[in-house]
Amino acid sequence: MLEGDIDPLALTYERIVAGPNRRRLGTFFTPPSVLTYMRQIVHGRLPKKPATVADPGAGVGAFTSASLRWWPRAEVHAVDVNLVTLGLLATRSNFAIKSARRSTTGRLQVRQDDFLQWLNTDWNDLRGPRLIFGNPPFTRHQQLTRTQKVAAQTSGGRLAPGKRAGLSTDFLAASLNRLDSEDSLCLLLPANWLEADYARTVREYLWTLTKRLVELHLFPDDMQVFPGTQVAAMVIFVGPEKNRRQPLILHRISGSTRIGFSSSEQEKVIRQGTTPPTFQPPDLRQPMRRNRSTLSTTEALARVAIIRRGVATGANTFFLKTNREVEPLPSHCYVRAISRLREVPGDALSLEVHQQIAKADLRCWLLQITESDAQDPEVSRVIAEGVRQGIHERYLCKVRNPWYAVEQIPPPDLLIGPMGKQQFRVVTNGAGAIPTNTLYGLRMRQGVPSSVGQRLGEWLAGEAGQQSMRAIARRHGDGLLKLVP
Ligand SMILES: C[S@@+](CC[C@H](N)C(=O)[O-])C[C@H]1O[C@@H](n2cnc3c(N)ncnc32)[C@H](O)[C@@H]1O
Repeated sequence: MLEGDIDPLALTYERIVAGPNRRRLGTFFTPPSVLTYMRQIVHGRLPKKPATVADPGAGVGAFTSASLRWWPRAEVHAVDVNLVTLGLLATRSNFAIKSARRSTTGRLQVRQDDFLQWLNTDWNDLRGPRLIFGNPPFTRHQQLTRTQKVAAQTSGGRLAPGKRAGLSTDFLAASLNRLDSEDSLCLLLPANWLEADYARTVREYLWTLTKRLVELHLFPDDMQVFPGTQVAAMVIFVGPEKNRRQPLILHRISGSTRIGFSSSEQEKVIRQGTTPPTFQPPDLRQPMRRNRSTLSTTEALARVAIIRRGVATGANTFFLKTNREVEPLPSHCYVRAISRLREVPGDALSLEVHQQIAKADLRCWLLQITESDAQDPEVSRVIAEGVRQGIHERYLCKVRNPWYAVEQIPPPDLLIGPMGKQQFRVVTNGAGAIPTNTLYGLRMRQGVPSSVGQRLGEWLAGEAGQQSMRAIARRHGDGLLKLVP
């Protein structure tokens, strides 16, 4: 059943459970081709067959069923909080599951439990060598309950990731924390933890785990391993402890869910010195050199310029106005603004270009009104309209006093688009427009000659600058890169 394109039980589950409920439990099923790829990893790396396999968030049992077939002597523990998927798992007609259920040794153990709790209790008594093998839930941190967050902190111990970590990173940290010397793990995960700040403790731990082989297998950024999730995927393998120093190996995966996957590029990384800032290839490749150059570039940039997001208005549709809308207002009540670089045709936002944007009736004026401006009848009409639309109740507006007085910032010299596939837009801001928080603004510090700003703009727009931005950008599932603060 698993060797086909789609697991019919996964399809059944997706048909009977609504999308939002699946997302809350982070339920995305592993395509059979990914499972086959992970099989090659564990089969080639494990020195001994596992006596116990734990499938964290077993779902309808892709990993459970495969493990029962691949390791006929292993006891397999399928752990999931969801009764529906476990129920479907129990109906599997695979020979392996059937025979395991019939076997007197009780090779298949199905448990409805929180995996993090289960790790703290049942896991301790299971026979080694043990393997944690599966596809943990993708539940985002906003969807976790307080109890789950506390359980994650307890199970992760000193590896516990930051509060913004999703459940899959919590599962990774807790699993690593519970490995005995002969145990291993192989997990399919969203790739964010490789660079997110919340997973620093996990990366630092893996960096010091030099007695164990660590492999990071990266799917191409634009490959949707989990359709519709926009999540870049990766597989981590951590082997049992050896007597000698082991490498960290980075694999690039090529292929597709249809034709199957293989590792098309490998790179050995020697873990020494400080942990690289991220586990993405450019940082991992030459950790020591990279650390130094990143630091010196950052210091130099911070000395000459200030980079920040634009103004967070809380409601761009209200605070950004068109030419026609600002016409009746006193001229000091609005300033030139820009919220989308796609409205700028070239690499310069000059006064002329801003005028063209205004003529096209696009929203390119930012309201800047204070309490005293509210006396003006036209301004007061605009404020009343905002109240009528309920803008004053929006979160950012509500916490401002008065709600309509947006932050006033000096115009930056350069505007930078935070998203791009290969290129980040860098635009000079001759018009002195104020960016909204959809953009970054770079402003040269006082006393820095304007020629430095000009050169910096050229460098950022050129290949070297673009490469540096790509190296620090966060990767999203659809190949999109995003600069984060
Ligand atoms: C990404 S799905 C993986 C399903 C299956 N292992 C596969 O690969 O096709 C994650 C599973 O984790 C389960 N889950 C969510 N939170 C859990 C928790 N705290 N403990 C155990 N399982 C959990 C969900 O019900 C879901 O079945």
